[in-house]
Amino acid sequence: MINIAIDGPAGAGKSTISKRLAAQLGYIYVDTGALYRAVGLYMLRVGVDIDRADDVSARLDGVDVKLQYIDGTQHVLLCGEDVSDDIRLPEVSMTASKVSAIPAVRAFLFDLQRSIAKDNNVVMDGRDIGTVVLPDAQIKIFLTASAEERARRRCKELTEKGQNVSYDDVLRDIIDRDYADSHREIAPLKQAADAELIDTSNLDLEQSVECLLNFVSKRIGENE
Ligand code: DC
Repeated sequence: MINIAIDGPAGAGKSTISKRLAAQLGYIYVDTGALYRAVGLYMLRVGVDIDRADDVSARLDGVDVKLQYIDGTQHVLLCGEDVSDDIRLPEVSMTASKVSAIPAVRAFLFDLQRSIAKDNNVVMDGRDIGTVVLPDAQIKIFLTASAEERARRRCKELTEKGQNVSYDDVLRDIIDRDYADSHREIAPLKQAADAELIDTSNLDLEQSVECLLNFVSKRIGENE
């Protein structure tokens, strides 16, 4: 099986680019952030205090999370219910970020991520895929862009959705999240030693997809 690990900070375009890459290659796209979001949603629903790591850990037994692929699109099932839309709610993003720093939550999701990659050709994106989840992935990419460019893209996306946001607030949020993700004790965001650094600050979406496709095609050729 070919495993492609794509890590990087929030807003670098990982999910959009990974999805396109997987579709081109005929691989399964695994969005691991969605798993952390599903755990966060579960904890919100059962009313656990997210700031109490022990309470969150004690509730993991009730979390039944599965990924299902319908026409190549990932759907997240939480206790049998399709929660693919609910996990995108803003309050779930914050909760996901908090639960993702709890070691028991990371351990809980580890096997699921590993087993999907063991049985399938995957493009898996996240924060610790190349470093922790799939250290033996044949291809690793660390996808990034400047904080300013990521803030600009995020503002454009939110404005297009009719939300009124200030560039300065979005930039501050991105800088804060980068810091939190890179400085947490467990599985912090960092480039794996053998990952290719790709900076998309000066590339648009099409150019970014092309850049990754070129790199990956070359590497798959070398692995064959
Ligand atoms: O990629 P995302 O924004 O959907 O991820 C939601 C949260 O989950 C994010 O705040 C960081 C965390 N996460 C993680 O810690 N490790 C991963 N492999 C993927 C996401």
